[in-house]
Amino acid sequence: MNKLSLVSFVLLMATVFSCKSDINQNEKDKFKTSSIESKVDSLMRLMTLEEKIGQTVMYSGGWSVTGPVVSSDNLKYIKEGNVGAMLNVYSVKGTRDLQKIAVEQTRLGIPLLFGYDVIHGFKTIFPINLGLAASWDLKDIEKGSRIAATEASAEGIHWTFAPMVDIARDPRWGRISEGAGEDVYLGSEITKAYVKGFQGNDLSKHNTILACAKHFVGYGAAQAGRDYHTVNMGMDELRNVYLPPFKAAVDSGVETFMTAFNEINGVPATGNKFIFRDILRDEWGFNGFVVTDYTAINEMVEHGFAENEKHATELAIKAGIDQDMMSSANRLYLKELVDEGKVDVALINEACRRILLTKYKLGLFDDPYKYCDEQREKETIYKPEFLEAARKSAAMSSVLLKNEERTLPLNKNQTIALIGPLVKDKENIIGNWAGAGDRNGKAISVYQGIQEYLKDSKILFAKGCEIEGEDRKGFAKAINMAKKADKIVMVLGEDYDMSGEAASRTDIKLPGVQTELIKAIRSAVPNKKIILVLMNGRPLDLSEEDTLADAILETWFPGTSGGFGIADVLFGMYNPSGKLPVTFPRNIGQIPIYYNMKNTGRPIPSDNPKEDYKSNYIDVPNTPLYPFGYGLSYTTFEYSKIKLSSETISFSDILTASVTITNTGDYDGHEVVQCYIHDKVGSITRPVKELKGFQKIFLKKGESKTISFEISAKDLEFYNNQKFTVEPGIFEIAIKGTSDFDFVASFKLE
Ligand code: BGC
Repeated sequence: MNKLSLVSFVLLMATVFSCKSDINQNEKDKFKTSSIESKVDSLMRLMTLEEKIGQTVMYSGGWSVTGPVVSSDNLKYIKEGNVGAMLNVYSVKGTRDLQKIAVEQTRLGIPLLFGYDVIHGFKTIFPINLGLAASWDLKDIEKGSRIAATEASAEGIHWTFAPMVDIARDPRWGRISEGAGEDVYLGSEITKAYVKGFQGNDLSKHNTILACAKHFVGYGAAQAGRDYHTVNMGMDELRNVYLPPFKAAVDSGVETFMTAFNEINGVPATGNKFIFRDILRDEWGFNGFVVTDYTAINEMVEHGFAENEKHATELAIKAGIDQDMMSSANRLYLKELVDEGKVDVALINEACRRILLTKYKLGLFDDPYKYCDEQREKETIYKPEFLEAARKSAAMSSVLLKNEERTLPLNKNQTIALIGPLVKDKENIIGNWAGAGDRNGKAISVYQGIQEYLKDSKILFAKGCEIEGEDRKGFAKAINMAKKADKIVMVLGEDYDMSGEAASRTDIKLPGVQTELIKAIRSAVPNKKIILVLMNGRPLDLSEEDTLADAILETWFPGTSGGFGIADVLFGMYNPSGKLPVTFPRNIGQIPIYYNMKNTGRPIPSDNPKEDYKSNYIDVPNTPLYPFGYGLSYTTFEYSKIKLSSETISFSDILTASVTITNTGDYDGHEVVQCYIHDKVGSITRPVKELKGFQKIFLKKGESKTISFEISAKDLEFYNNQKFTVEPGIFEIAIKGTSDFDFVASFKLE
C-alpha cells in the first residue's frame, strides 16, 4: 500500500470506527482482512438510513474555463453524506477536491464515485461508435476503449456511462451515432469488446473504469426516430433483437446498467419491474448496480405513470433501480416513503449495498485518491501512441461505398482540389459525445492529413459553402478550383450536433446546399473524377450523391486523428476494409429498413420486383442504396462455393462451413468475412437472414485462405413462448463479404 493509500485507509477506518468507540483492536484487524462483502456489511451497520439513501444519489458538476464547478447546494449535500456519486466532474484537481470533502468531512468518510460519458474516447477521440462498428474489428474497439479508460482514469474518472448497446434501425434517431448499428450479433460482440476495454481484467487497478450498459431497454426503437419517444414492441422483438446486447454485457461482467428514458409497452423503463427485476436480476443474475438516466425518475410523472415525484421515487426503487441521476427524488422522498411504510427499508439496503460493493471493487476504500495523480494525468493525456491508435481506427472505420474506374486511391503527382465545409474542420471531426476532447484543438483536419501526402503546391482549396444555410457565394471559387485540378475531393456532411442526443432529423439528406455544390461542380467539370468524403453521424440518403460522385468514402466523424486516417485511406496507405453496420436507405420513406427483416406472405419475386400485390413500393425498389455488411476495397476478393461438413446435423453436432477467399486484385487488404443463416420455417417467423459470425482477415494480393465457421444448435436458437428454443428443420447458410446475396446452400437440423 503506498503512502497516500495508507493514510487514507487509516483515515477512513478512523472515521468509520470513531462512531463506535467500543470497537476493539481485534475487530479492527478482522475488518482489514475480511471479504469486501463483509466489509460492506460492517460499514452498513454503522450507517443511518439517510446515509444509505445518500449513496443512491448522484449529482452533476459543471465545467467552466478554470475547471469543474459544483453548486453550493451539491457541496452541502456531499458534506452531509447525502451524495454517493458525481457526474461531469473530472481532472485530478477537481475530483481530488471533492473526494477530500467526502472522505474527510463526512461522518463515515465514504468516497464518491465519479462518472462521465466516455463514449468514443476521453481526450484522444476515436471515430464515433457507429464508425467504430464499421471496422468490425473487435480488438481495435477493445484497444480504443482501453485507451479511453486509461485517459479518463488519469483525470479522476471511475466510471463511464458506456457502452450504449441499443440496437438502432432508424437513421432519423440522432443517437444511432452512439451505438453499433442495426445487428444483434455484431452489436453483442462489440458490446463485449467495449466492456473488456473499459473494465480490463482487474477493476482495482488505477487505469480501469466501470462500464455501464445503456439504455435498458428499447431506446433505439423510439417511434418515428424521435428521441425519448414511445416504444411498443412484442416479446419476439424484445427478446430476439433488443435484449441480446445487454445480455452480452452481463456475460462480459459489466458492473452497471442505466435505465432508458422511454416507456416500453406502457411502462417507463425507469419504473419497469419486469425488465429490471424479472429479466436483469432474476433471469440474468446481474449483481452490479443500476443508475437511472438523467432525471428519469421525475420524468415518470410526465409519462403519466406516476402521480407525482414521490410516487415516481417509490416506483423506481421498487422496480430495482439503485441510483438516482439528477432527479433529487431519492434524496427528497425515500426516507418519507420508508417512514410511511410504502417502501421497505430492505430495498434501500439492497441498493446501497450494491453501490458500496462497487466502490470496494474499485479499491476506493483502500485509496480514495488512487485516480488522482497529477504526474500520471500529465503523462497520459494525448500520448503519441494513443493518437496513432486513433489514426488507425479512423482508417479502419472508413467505408468505401463507391469507387468507379479506380478513382481511388489518389497518387501524389496530381493536383487535388479540396472542396467543402469540412475540409479544414477541426470542430465537427471529433463528432458528438466527444468526451473531454478539445474541439478546434488537437484534432487533425482532412486538409492537414492530405498535406502529409501532397506538396502544398498541389493542393487547391475552396470551402464552397457552409454545412447548413443557403449561401452559394462560395460556389464560383470552388468551381474555379475544380477546373484547375486533376481530381476533386469534396469533404461534406453533417454538423456534429446534428446527431447524438436530442438530434433527430426528419430529413436525412446532406444539409444546406452541399448537394447543390456537388451538382454545380459536376456540371462544370463533367469529365473529372469527384471523390466524396463524408462525415456524418447516421446513414444518410445519398441517392443523388451516388449518381454524381465517382467515389464515395464514408468516414463518419473520425476523431482526433481523423484527418490523418482519412488521408491514409485516400492515398492507399490503408486499403479500406470497413463494412456498413447499418443499412443506408434510398430515401427516408423506406425506414425502417434493415437486412434481417421478415419475408412477409407476399415477398417480391427477384425476376419481377415490381409485380402487383407484392410487398413493394410503386416508386422505389425495396432494396437499400447500400446494404448492411457492404463496403468496397481497393482490391477484389473472390469467394469459392461454400463447403459444409455435413448436410444434416443433430442437436449436439457442430457444423463446419467453409469457403476459400482469394485476393484477386492489385492490393493487399483486409476482408470482413460474414456468415449468415436463414431458418426457413419457425414456430414464429424468422428473419430472412441473420449474421451468425464474422472474421476479419488479411490477404496479400494473390493470396488465398480457407475460412471456417462452426455452427451449433445454440447459434440457431430464438425466443418464443417464454423460452429459448431451437427447432429442427432446414437452414440456409452463406459466407460472403456483404449481406446482399441469395442463399444457395442449406443444411438440416434433426
Ligand atoms: C443520456 C445518457 C448520459 C447521461 C449523462 C443523458 O441525457 O441519455 O446517455 O449518460 O445523460 O450525461
